[in-house]
Amino acid sequence: MKNVLIFDTTLRDGEQALQRALSRREKIVIAKQLAKLNVDVIEAGFPISSPEDFKSVETIAKEIQGPIICGLSRAVEKDIDACASALKHAKRPRIHTFLATSDIHMEKKFRKTQEQVVEMAVQAVTYARRFCDDVEFSCEDAGRTSLELLYHIVESVIKAGATTVNIPDTVGYTVPSEFGTIIKNVFNNVPNIDKTVVSVHCHNDLGLAVSNSLAAVQAGARQVECTMNGLGERAGNAALEEIVMILGTRQKLLNLSTNIKTQELYPSSKLVSRICNVSVQQNKAVIGKNAFSHSSGIHQDGVLKEKSTYEIMSPQTIGREDKTFNLTGRSGRHVIKHRLEKLGYAPGYYDLDKIYDSFLALADKKGQVFDDDLELLMEADAFSSEDTFNLCHLQVSSGLNIIPNAALKIDRNGNVIQESATGDGPVDACFNAIDRACGISAKIEEYTIVANPGGRMAVGTVNLIADYNGRKIHGVGFSTDIIEASAHAYLNAINKIERLIEIDKFKNGNNEG
Ligand code: KIV
Ligand code: ZN
Repeated sequence: MKNVLIFDTTLRDGEQALQRALSRREKIVIAKQLAKLNVDVIEAGFPISSPEDFKSVETIAKEIQGPIICGLSRAVEKDIDACASALKHAKRPRIHTFLATSDIHMEKKFRKTQEQVVEMAVQAVTYARRFCDDVEFSCEDAGRTSLELLYHIVESVIKAGATTVNIPDTVGYTVPSEFGTIIKNVFNNVPNIDKTVVSVHCHNDLGLAVSNSLAAVQAGARQVECTMNGLGERAGNAALEEIVMILGTRQKLLNLSTNIKTQELYPSSKLVSRICNVSVQQNKAVIGKNAFSHSSGIHQDGVLKEKSTYEIMSPQTIGREDKTFNLTGRSGRHVIKHRLEKLGYAPGYYDLDKIYDSFLALADKKGQVFDDDLELLMEADAFSSEDTFNLCHLQVSSGLNIIPNAALKIDRNGNVIQESATGDGPVDACFNAIDRACGISAKIEEYTIVANPGGRMAVGTVNLIADYNGRKIHGVGFSTDIIEASAHAYLNAINKIERLIEIDKFKNGNNEG
């Protein structure tokens, strides 16, 4: 059995495509889960791209144990310096440097000849090796690069010390037979190819990212770059969960394995979807809501008689339970702990007493508490400890022929502020009152509300994007009361803005000093 390394780029390529940058704290929460999933490499960010990204890579490098921690850099010294510096505390650092090699990119993007590009690539790899023994080089737009140049540049960067060489289909242009042949040709025409790991990185512009990655591993590639839920530039990257489950489910045919703990796939997908505010389509392979639901009578009959009639993998393999526990106010602490473990939260990762109290409060309101509700409680807990503003009272009146009004109390680090405001509707009135109480105001660019399972007593989750001086901030809140959920979501965004303001003040103070 040959092993395929899983290189996760959710925090770099995936994040690039989001409406707003992830905060450092959000990136660390995701990185911790990726380590639990046991990915081989975490691409944590692009350190030169912004001071925040630099700090995120640096913190992940310090705090996350297990996987290789990788940073991206263009093939220029200042990028490589930033990358090396952000990674200096990593136990297993990797510098990933890239340069475009297709005619169209070389001519139109940076007007360089083939010789100049090869020279730059070799210099970048040689320079990166001064800081780190693990250096990856990517030939950006390899899918549209002439094969002769590809062989030459791959051979040259391996000589310069590249321990991994990545062949990306940057624009998702190739088809599987073609991409598999490119990889086979690289193996057959680059004399020192056995001195490196061949990696692939496929985009999904034609919906072929996973198929192209599969063709590549069948042709000998031993690292796949992918993202949770297929997030990434434009139509995204190859979906990690699909690659892993193809290799797992068809292991006998393919003779390939990964180091992934597949039971962590579903919890990872949920976490990434929530934090990134990108929902997963219902019929998405492996992790979509309907991926294990059988609708037709014939199928249901078959599954009742023998699951394997219509199920090629079990939901438990990827960390989904096919039966629902009844969690109510009568459920004990140990049941909650057990359930949280099943959902991928290791003991010690959270404060059980605190979660149990929140669980009881929710059970009190809605009777039965579902897995989705528990995950919301966990998420709220993960983010609330640093909050400056906490909602402690809310009263809203609205209706036909009355002006909507909201009165609230917000605890600001121990001081309770009382405010009220009117608005176009009850949600607007709440947001106006929050603006007054916190002294911060943001524009709402997007607002969605979703009901989690539970019929009339469902928990409503509100996701919103707030714009604060051009910065896009995600807020999430939930409650059985949708107005309260909206207030929590907006306050969640306001707390993040407050932290940004503090960081800005600190930076300005440092500059002045
Ligand atoms: O798509 C791409 O080519 C990339 C490289 C930086 C690897 O993301
Ligand atoms: Zn990419």
